[in-house]
Amino acid sequence: MQNLLQLASIFLITGLSAALSYGNRPSCRCKPNDPCWPSSDQWKALNESIQGNLVSVRPVGDVCHDPTYNAEACQKVKDIAQNSFWRAEQPGAVQFLNWETLPASNESCYIDGPQSVTCDQGRISLYSALVESPLQIQEAVRFARKHNLRLAVKASGHDFLGRSSAPHSLQVSTYRMKDITFTDDFVPKGSKKGGEGSAVTIGAGVVLSDLYKASSENDVVAVGGASHTVVASGGYIQGGGHSPLGTWKGMASDNALEFQVITPKGDLITANEYQNTDLFWALRGGGGGTFGVVASVTIRTFPDPPIVLASLNISTTPDNSKGFWDAVKEFHTVLPNLNENGASGYYFIVPLNPPLPEIGTMSTVTAALMFVDQDDKAAVERLLEPLVAAVSKINNVTIATSALYSPKTGPIILDALLQGEADGTGVSVAIGSRLISREFLLSENGPAKLSQTLSSLKSEVGSAFRGHIVAGGQVAKNAGKIDSALNPAWRKTLSHLTLGNSWNSSTSFDEQRKMYENITNVEVPLLKALEPEMGAYLNEADPHESDFQESFWGENYKRLYKFKQEWDPTGLFISRLGVGSEDWDDDGLCRVR
Ligand SMILES: Cc1cc2nc3c(=O)[nH]c(=O)nc-3n(C[C@H](O)[C@H](O)[C@H](O)COP(=O)(O)OP(=O)(O)OC[C@H]3O[C@@H](n4cnc5c(N)ncnc54)[C@H](O)[C@@H]3O)c2cc1C
Ligand SMILES: *[C@@H]1O[C@H](CO)[C@@H](O)[C@H](O)[C@H]1NC(C)=O
Ligand SMILES: *[C@@H]1O[C@H](CO)[C@@H](O)[C@H](O)[C@H]1NC(C)=O
Ligand SMILES: *[C@@H]1O[C@H](CO)[C@@H](O)[C@H](O)[C@H]1NC(C)=O
Ligand SMILES: *[C@@H]1O[C@H](CO)[C@@H](O)[C@H](O)[C@H]1NC(C)=O
Ligand SMILES: *[C@@H]1O[C@H](CO)[C@@H](O)[C@H](O)[C@H]1NC(C)=O
Ligand SMILES: *[C@@H]1O[C@H](CO)[C@@H](O)[C@H](O)[C@H]1NC(C)=O
Repeated sequence: MQNLLQLASIFLITGLSAALSYGNRPSCRCKPNDPCWPSSDQWKALNESIQGNLVSVRPVGDVCHDPTYNAEACQKVKDIAQNSFWRAEQPGAVQFLNWETLPASNESCYIDGPQSVTCDQGRISLYSALVESPLQIQEAVRFARKHNLRLAVKASGHDFLGRSSAPHSLQVSTYRMKDITFTDDFVPKGSKKGGEGSAVTIGAGVVLSDLYKASSENDVVAVGGASHTVVASGGYIQGGGHSPLGTWKGMASDNALEFQVITPKGDLITANEYQNTDLFWALRGGGGGTFGVVASVTIRTFPDPPIVLASLNISTTPDNSKGFWDAVKEFHTVLPNLNENGASGYYFIVPLNPPLPEIGTMSTVTAALMFVDQDDKAAVERLLEPLVAAVSKINNVTIATSALYSPKTGPIILDALLQGEADGTGVSVAIGSRLISREFLLSENGPAKLSQTLSSLKSEVGSAFRGHIVAGGQVAKNAGKIDSALNPAWRKTLSHLTLGNSWNSSTSFDEQRKMYENITNVEVPLLKALEPEMGAYLNEADPHESDFQESFWGENYKRLYKFKQEWDPTGLFISRLGVGSEDWDDDGLCRVR
């Protein structure tokens, strides 16, 4: 009897501790048909706790497929399918279609797919908490934690690596959190040093175009990216955040003063230089969706400076391939000097443009160079002269440049940088990228090797290599001054170079897989071979980047991983190719170690 009791209690204890450790480190998240999935009463309680802001979600293409087909609704959705504001707001969409589908189980729900084909859920969340306050975020996070759910945090849904969607998940959509508050002298909580100067506090749903507009009205600028709908306080700043203002004032994350964060336990805390400093370190470059939900961030603002904007066009015919790639080499050769003199901006290397009437197909390099806080247009024109001279010497290659001065930068960002009404999305996209160092471009054969490598990559009509001149200057100067999780490679970077493919709903999963594989196994390695010790920008990179920990964070990864284990031991916040994601399967549903 005694023995039996002992045996029973041992069973009880081991059973209990197994259940406890299972509760602490569950091997898989709950899925809809699992017994652990919340009951409808529990979902109802969550809904009430967030003032009725819970919705159950179907993909936006649902109305275009049987049995839910609705001609009128489907047409409406078709008309707006490529508007990034609409996609940001829809719980049943992200910006890029490949992150709505689930190739492993052949699931898709294309808006323009055949009506008779059923609409599959794919990576679209099952429920969304359309939160309006930090308190509502807390409720949603606590619910996900309690019920062991896969949580997906979505701000705009722009993530190129699929981080804002996940199968069988509960989404926290921050898009409604639109508060913007300007301060003349921001004092971080707990600071004994006093004010940090002018700043703006932005909610977790403020898109860049709204930030730029509000800043311009207040006669200030903030460091932000080149997009209408990327959310300033979301994956953008948490991944580092590059900007054409970066050369002037550093990365967006270099300008973060304070975050309000909902932790994996569901607490609302402040992270800045004075409290929760490890979290503050990690949130500046460690990546979105990994350490909690940011409810708001406070970033520095600056008086709106004057600017000289220069543009240049290099063009030739596609049969003059040697001339074209020589011109690309000359462009990269002058880049260090331009950047040292304040140039930031973007360039597009397009070996084959779509044919134009009368002109035909051309190979071009176009660039928009921004000289922020400068007012001497003639000086900028003089800076471009060596490039003009070098390119003019190449047979049959023409170069044209122009420059304009504006007393304020804000309007230039709004008019010239953010073209159109929205970002054109609603297609499938895969990119690959590399950070190219200033040292490399200054090295003897650096520009020639880069040009040679780019010329060896395939080019379809219209496909472009995009160069982002968003570092150097203050980004480089902040090395050793700002201690954050940001990829240290950024401090050495002169150009963030991307290549990519986009495709539509008629491309099969099999063809998509081949494209992905080519980026990962052929194209990115060719670029990487130029400078194996550099890295890539985690927000704009190959979604299957090999050795992503090293590429995205370099020597910072060890500390990030350690902090992640302490901060979020149950892995409530897992994002694709994010810190600690290697311990989970690709969907973040089951632990793999
Ligand atoms: C058209 C376009 C232009 C771009 N331009 C630039 C640019 O100029 N500079 C640049 O640096 N990048 C740029 N990017 C890349 C951009 O930084 C990333 O796509 C980034 O992931 C967008 O962040 P988001 O929060 O808006 O997107 P989402 O896809 O919603 O989120 C991205 C990641 O952040 C997480 N996240 C979102 N909100 C929160 C929150 N409140 N708390 C915690 N985690 C959160 C998500 O879970 C996800 O992991 C651009 C992208 C596009 C598509
Ligand atoms: C949540 O409550 C609101 C308001 O009562 C209701 O409209 C909505 O359908 C509910 N959501 C769910 C998922 O039931
Ligand atoms: C995948 O789904 C599509 C339609 O959604 C169907 O045409 C195709 O046959 C499916 N393929 C497989 C392998 O099941
Ligand atoms: C340059 O163009 C001219 C006429 O357009 C052509 O005759 C010549 O062969 C070209 N030279 C080179 C090097 O492409
Ligand atoms: C470059 O070409 C584009 C498109 O052809 C044109 O709009 C732009 O004005 C040109 N810029 C210069 C400086 O020639
Ligand atoms: C893979 O990439 C290389 C280099 O860009 C290209 O030459 C080749 O055609 C690509 N293969 C496929 C299958 O896309
Ligand atoms: C998709 O792209 C292919 C190839 O570019 C094109 O032929 C086709 O018409 C496109 N389909 C749709 C539905 O847009």
